[in-house]
Amino acid sequence: MAIRPIITAPDARLRQISKPVETVNDDIRALMDDMLETMYDAPGIGLAAIQIGVPLRIIVMDLAGKDEDPEPRYYINPVVLDTAEEMAVYEEGCLSVPEYFEEVERPAKCGVRYLDYDGAEQLIETEGLLATCIQHEMDHLEGTLFIDHLSRLKRDLIIRKLKKEQRLAAAE
Ligand code: NI
Repeated sequence: MAIRPIITAPDARLRQISKPVETVNDDIRALMDDMLETMYDAPGIGLAAIQIGVPLRIIVMDLAGKDEDPEPRYYINPVVLDTAEEMAVYEEGCLSVPEYFEEVERPAKCGVRYLDYDGAEQLIETEGLLATCIQHEMDHLEGTLFIDHLSRLKRDLIIRKLKKEQRLAAAE
């Protein structure tokens, strides 16, 4: 396993549309292991493959609390089957938009079909933090970031600040 560099906004690579995984094999499992290690190291609760520069439809997540045992989750080629009309608001952050947190409204529940770590098809009904997190991560597969759900003013402000921070970091 290896920790890979996480790409941060406004890097154009984050805007790519990720491609489906054709076969869940050992290469894909090795990639997911790296993604999980990278996510734990950051630390974060979710990571899409494109965030380490791999445009494949793969997400890893772990929503366990600090004092709980790890609960790694792997979603390959996830598809939303249905969403609730009821909406929920969570304060979201993203490893590709470091240090910024904003409230985002999304459907409170959604059904998702995906392939698991072994390539077996799974169907789940999600709600709460899991529903929000999986929708946030699935946005990444379409090249969408959580800041795209904010007003243009807020989004532009965050992007400007990120660019400034990156310039300062590069100059050091
Ligand atoms: Ni994210």
